[in-house]
Amino acid sequence: MMKDSIKKYFIHTYGCQMNVHESEKLAGVLCQHGYVKAEEDAEADIIVFNTCCIRESAETRVLGNLGHAKKLKEANPDLIIAICGCMPQKAGTAEMLKKRCPFIDIIFGTHNLSLFGEYLDKVENEGKKVLEIWHEERQIKELDTIKRDEGVSAWVNIMYGCNNFCSYCIVPYVKGRERSRSIDEIVGEINSLVKEGYKEITLLGQNVNSYNFVDEKNNHYDFADVLDIVSDIEGDFRIKFMTSHPKDISEKVVKTIADKQKLAKYIHLPLQSGSDRILKLMNRKYDSAQYLAKVDMIRNYIPDCGITSDIIVGFPTETNEDFEATETVVRKVCFNNLFTFIYSRRSGTVADKMDGQIDIKTKRERIKHLIDLQFGLGLRKAEEQIGKNGCVLCEKLIGGKGYGKSQNDTPVTFDSDEPLETGKFYNVKIKSHRNTKLYGTVINKIGD
Ligand code: SAH
Ligand code: SF4
Ligand code: F3S
Repeated sequence: MMKDSIKKYFIHTYGCQMNVHESEKLAGVLCQHGYVKAEEDAEADIIVFNTCCIRESAETRVLGNLGHAKKLKEANPDLIIAICGCMPQKAGTAEMLKKRCPFIDIIFGTHNLSLFGEYLDKVENEGKKVLEIWHEERQIKELDTIKRDEGVSAWVNIMYGCNNFCSYCIVPYVKGRERSRSIDEIVGEINSLVKEGYKEITLLGQNVNSYNFVDEKNNHYDFADVLDIVSDIEGDFRIKFMTSHPKDISEKVVKTIADKQKLAKYIHLPLQSGSDRILKLMNRKYDSAQYLAKVDMIRNYIPDCGITSDIIVGFPTETNEDFEATETVVRKVCFNNLFTFIYSRRSGTVADKMDGQIDIKTKRERIKHLIDLQFGLGLRKAEEQIGKNGCVLCEKLIGGKGYGKSQNDTPVTFDSDEPLETGKFYNVKIKSHRNTKLYGTVINKIGD
């Protein structure tokens, strides 16, 4: 049988939203090179692994899927395999991949993503293999060949990198120092996205609150300025952002969120631990009282603000008492949602060299406790919503029902007497909940 003459690509994406967005940029480059998206990797002419190394489990998954790609390549020697992102950027990993996986054609890191097209040309036209890692960031070079996934939401980078060096975290080592994108570029991109019909824009950065840009006229812009400026862009759309470091979220930012209608009333505010001793070891630069004060400040200005968080259990030396302190803060705040992680040792980080690493059994017990605790609190949050009205963006339709998120980022399934449309905002009354999921009915459509 003749092989399909149209070249196809498949991208495996791991990790955070920033990586998901980065994959949209890689997809744009592939489309420019004449590729179309394959439904599965088995039918692709190129497979790209856009990787994450935040926890060991992320890397194990990549290595497992590389094994599968190796088999595909044995059956089809013309298949191109590329790996990029945070994993090859980690010290020593690119060389390890070259040795252990000689079937990979292109290996590159986070700082040279914009050169993907050139690397692809080298492999396609000259039959050469490429391994190129830059060890430090250079000036931001945006790829404007973004092929966004279909839907009503779009991501926009506002900054890159992280300067915080939390002692457990690999991100500053693989994403480099903080760089903020120019305000004009950000506004320009959002303007066109809104004109294209996107209804939800998420501003992305490892710590968006550190946004800091000085233009050629020496005007300074901080994150609150970005929020202020982008929420004045004309159109019917909603703005979200992630992620915020608790030490940096300012009253100015919170006031702006409260004042501007386009800004979702939602903040992801990673706590990591509720124990002051552990927070210090983690180099988080706040204690539990300061964290709780930020939560109070947020709820003062925005009473129904959705607040979600990340927590790591089993950080080196974490005792039962430390863990109980975390549970206490979780109970006090009553988060809308919680992302819980088992501490994973990352070579090159400060915490990796600490004594008192915790055994896996204890870590598993603690994470289970925390998940159970949050489940109960989530039920309470869901119950509080019953009878309330809120603005929900219809993201998709499933069996005639609408599905989307409320202003405070809670997922809602809803029905209506009138036919529903994706990309429209609806005023929805919450009628019931099943576990932490909310169900409601449309009161009226908002806007045209
Ligand atoms: N920049 C974001 C987080 C990026 S990583 C922030 O600071 O909020 C996402 C989450 O992964 C972190 O919030 C943390 O909870 C978790 N994480 C990071 N390193 C980890 C590690 N070594 N082991 C387990 N979880 C980790
Ligand atoms: Fe990692 Fe801390 Fe930076 Fe977040 S703020 S990316 S957890 S070092
Ligand atoms: Fe992972 Fe890199 Fe994001 S390590 S969490 S993909 S910044």
